[in-house]
Amino acid sequence: MKAIDIRNKYLNFFEKHGHKVIPSAPLIPENDPSVLFTTAGMQPLVPYLLGEKHPEGKRLTDYQKCLRTVDIDEVGDNRHLTFFEMLGNWSLGDYFKEESIKMSFEFLTKELQIPVEKLSVTCFAGDEDAPRDEESAKIWEEVGMPKDHIYFFGKDDNWWIAGEEGPCGPDTEMFYDTGKPACSEHCDPSCGCGKYVEIWNNVFMEYYKTNEGKYTKLEQKNVDTGLGLERMNMLLQGKETPYDTEIFEPIMKKLQQLAKVDNIQSRRIVAEHLRSSIMVISDGARPSNVDRGYILRRLIRRMTRHLNKLQIDLNELEGLIELNISVLCEMYPALLDNKEVIKQVILEEKDKFVKTLSNGEREFAKVVKSMKSENKTLIDGHTVFKLYDTYGFPPEVTKDLAEDENLQIDMEEFQRLYKEHQEKSRAGSEQKFKGGLSGNGEIETKYHTATHLLNAALKQVISKDIHQRGSNITTERMRFDFNCDHKLTDEEKQKVEDLVNEWIKQEIPVTVEEMKKEDAIKSGAECMFIEKYPDMVTVYSIGDVSKELCGGPHVKNTGELGTFKIKKEEASSAGIRRIKAVLVD
Ligand code: SER
Repeated sequence: MKAIDIRNKYLNFFEKHGHKVIPSAPLIPENDPSVLFTTAGMQPLVPYLLGEKHPEGKRLTDYQKCLRTVDIDEVGDNRHLTFFEMLGNWSLGDYFKEESIKMSFEFLTKELQIPVEKLSVTCFAGDEDAPRDEESAKIWEEVGMPKDHIYFFGKDDNWWIAGEEGPCGPDTEMFYDTGKPACSEHCDPSCGCGKYVEIWNNVFMEYYKTNEGKYTKLEQKNVDTGLGLERMNMLLQGKETPYDTEIFEPIMKKLQQLAKVDNIQSRRIVAEHLRSSIMVISDGARPSNVDRGYILRRLIRRMTRHLNKLQIDLNELEGLIELNISVLCEMYPALLDNKEVIKQVILEEKDKFVKTLSNGEREFAKVVKSMKSENKTLIDGHTVFKLYDTYGFPPEVTKDLAEDENLQIDMEEFQRLYKEHQEKSRAGSEQKFKGGLSGNGEIETKYHTATHLLNAALKQVISKDIHQRGSNITTERMRFDFNCDHKLTDEEKQKVEDLVNEWIKQEIPVTVEEMKKEDAIKSGAECMFIEKYPDMVTVYSIGDVSKELCGGPHVKNTGELGTFKIKKEEASSAGIRRIKAVLVD
């Protein structure tokens, strides 16, 4: 069995049990600036866990692409991954503990045919916020879990919440016994020795933790479950690490062939970070110095560093990306459509990093020299920050290089300085955009309609393959990102501007209708992230000019827009152009 077979079995099983299969949300959360990436299957579902009605009903199942970067420095060992897939099933105020546990048990023992002896489970031991979960333990016993395979632990192990505030509750976790000898007589599923591996987590979400740390009862009782696909795949294949499964094996082999230095940790880091970078770029992230872009930059740069460590010629990177995409595309077919841009983004970032490295390395050598002459072993945070800020040298790289020299870096001080710096620049950019980010005022509404016209005009003037890749609206201007392989010529810009103004002059009515997503797509409606939309969608049409899946709001008639003017056209990132435009009366 391969990972994709486990995924299909899972979705079929829960579909058979009355669940609707919903699409994976993109790795980059929509409309949620509080998190950088989707980190769990439940994250895109939070509004529904809090009571909003989901258009697909109360029983849902999906596979969700996730990225967790807290453990990024652990990657290279035998289990941590930044990108992974989480299979999940949800009850939104429908079934609760009994049915959830029964289905999990049936799936593990019948569908995946895991012998009961290999399974253990844990339940919440209870505290002042919530009672001991005897109910789950009893259900486990009833379905056939031996009593001595049922454990109770406290909040640290058996309570789940995303972050500090939000829907949460006690969970029951399932563990797979790898058959390794117990590390001591106290060895149990809470022990990290590797004998027991967590495979599935069912959260019984009936609480809400407020930002004051109080627990209140949710109006509906939900179930949120998450099963880590790569891990399950590895266990079922009897492999020691995910790198030994079909997901990573071809690339690991290729790295071994190419490398002049034998270093399994570096091979794993390259394979893992390459996969994550490919996935996040495919979902729209681009390298930059802040937030998501910075994480992606770190992934690509760290991977490049380790290619160097392995003494693999960096010209091999393109082939490695292609190989990786060919391995992953069965599970993620969208990668094939985005192949060229993925390659371009990674290779450009690699080139930039190579330049940075040579400057930074020279500076770093000076630091090492002076430290050694002073007999110091800790590189202070200011120096690390200077290397970062002036030489573009990421702290992780400084740390890696420092280790080679038996030096350490003051990461804490660096983090403090970095935060200070970020706060300053954030305050600056807030100042710049004062007056409403993505508000729904009259002016923003006009700009919103203008983005649809611009999108349509670009398609007519430049290429029908142009699609929106992002947009940002303030009361002062609109910004529109789109895929395009060249800088627009003055003539092209003029044509686009003229066409939009022509449509404004024609006073075309803007209409909205509700329809099934399928029908909307069939009718040729434009849509940025197809997966993000529920089955019923709203479609805004501007005469025959434009048709887009969109939440609105829009003006009633293009005549309301005034005059459209392109102020600037520039590169936003590899393969993506950006237009800034204004509407004037
Ligand atoms: N939210 C839980 C987790 O991420 C179960 O899906 O483990």
